[in-house]
Amino acid sequence: MIPSREECLSLMMRYGMLENIVSHSLEVAKVALFLSVELNKKGQKIDLDLVEAGSLLHDLTKTECLKTKDDHARTGGQVLKGMGYERVGDIVAQHIWLGKEGDPSCVTEEEIVNYADKRVMHDRIVSLGERFSDLKARYGLNPKAMDYLERLQTEIYGIENKIFFILQFDPNDLRHL
Ligand SMILES: [Fe+2]
Repeated sequence: MIPSREECLSLMMRYGMLENIVSHSLEVAKVALFLSVELNKKGQKIDLDLVEAGSLLHDLTKTECLKTKDDHARTGGQVLKGMGYERVGDIVAQHIWLGKEGDPSCVTEEEIVNYADKRVMHDRIVSLGERFSDLKARYGLNPKAMDYLERLQTEIYGIENKIFFILQFDPNDLRHL
């Protein structure tokens, strides 16, 4: 079961999502859908409805987690699974860290949403380099936090290489979307 775009938008409202997080999520959905359509032209079998819902809802509980300091990937995944949206819940749960090592020849919906989220800073498409410089400046305040971001960065460059090896165009071309 996958919520429609309208259902996603009304869930975002119901969870009191901050306006800037709504704009970010709409932009992530745009990037993720573009990549999915292009990857499907190259023979991948990505479920577009799943990618759209996962993108729109990836930060569903982030607004409340800003107060509670809970992990919004975990709580967002739980909330959605509790509604019966099992696959969307999986994607949301893995939008910061991917759960497992992927197949090198096959791109998953989880990987696309995870990657698209990292290419959108606020509501602007940027390179991974730019996104991680910003993250490191804001959150890399001690060696442990910096190490965390370095590991995250290594993981996501692996996904970028995999996606663009299949697509055969430059990651920077996304800027013109
Ligand atoms: Fe997030």
